[in-house]
Amino acid sequence: MDQSTFQQWDAQVTQWIDEARENILAHFDEPLSIEEKSGRRDLVTQVDKENEQRLVAHIRQADPDAQILGEEGLGDHVTETDGRLWILDPLDGTMNFIKQRDDFAIMMSLYIDGIGQAAWLYDVMGDRLFHGAKGIGVWLNDRLMAPPANLPLSEGLASLSGPLVRHDVDHMQAIGAASLGMRIIGSAGIAFTKVLRGQQVCYISYLRPWDFATGKILAEELGLVVTTVDGQTPSVLSYSVVVVATKQAQQDIIAMQA
Ligand code: IPD
Ligand code: CA
Ligand code: CA
Ligand code: CA
Repeated sequence: MDQSTFQQWDAQVTQWIDEARENILAHFDEPLSIEEKSGRRDLVTQVDKENEQRLVAHIRQADPDAQILGEEGLGDHVTETDGRLWILDPLDGTMNFIKQRDDFAIMMSLYIDGIGQAAWLYDVMGDRLFHGAKGIGVWLNDRLMAPPANLPLSEGLASLSGPLVRHDVDHMQAIGAASLGMRIIGSAGIAFTKVLRGQQVCYISYLRPWDFATGKILAEELGLVVTTVDGQTPSVLSYSVVVVATKQAQQDIIAMQA
């Protein structure tokens, strides 16, 4: 994608995200309508669904030939990545939204023939929009971001997911112990932003496509690496334990799997 094409999408998508933010804030002080999905820790609210419905409607109008993969299933049933594909998480960190009204995000990205092209990750309460495109750069609001320092695991904080640590999946407790400290944030999107900003050297979690597709484009553009825990490229149509890290921390994490 060239810079002017990105700028055109950026202007539109930023408006859509702003509208989604307004919708979230409109529900802030009222009781939410909450449903369980797979269990009591996997919840969805009317705000997740409304956001997805609106974002899907905008994409359908602006990019009618594209497929849409959204968490709440209001897009398409996507089985291949040929052509244009939008991947979206209309509210990432639903439990944080319900319990904290803080630390949740909106994520959208555009893939073409399976390759990530442009991405928008909005930290709603922090009012931080991370947006950028492959080969063009990443901006935090209006400021062009510089790649974070390539620190090893031993010199940084490690963002891990609660279930992976609790069950010690893929040596997660040893990874935490090898870092300067573990952090559990509860939103994949917000955790990605910490690594993008160089505040943490890695984030590791069991993630679905809409949890990592957006952050992956931004992270790679900033010289970070996004792989499965065994060093493979994660597919944006399946789920796996995903690592986003500095190059050095990723090597440290992979070495610990042996
Ligand atoms: C969840 C959050 C959480 C991660 C889960 C995701 P959701 O997304 O990002 O941090 O550990 O795997 O499902 O459901 O709140 O959009
Ligand atoms: Ca969810
Ligand atoms: Ca999510
Ligand atoms: Ca979600």
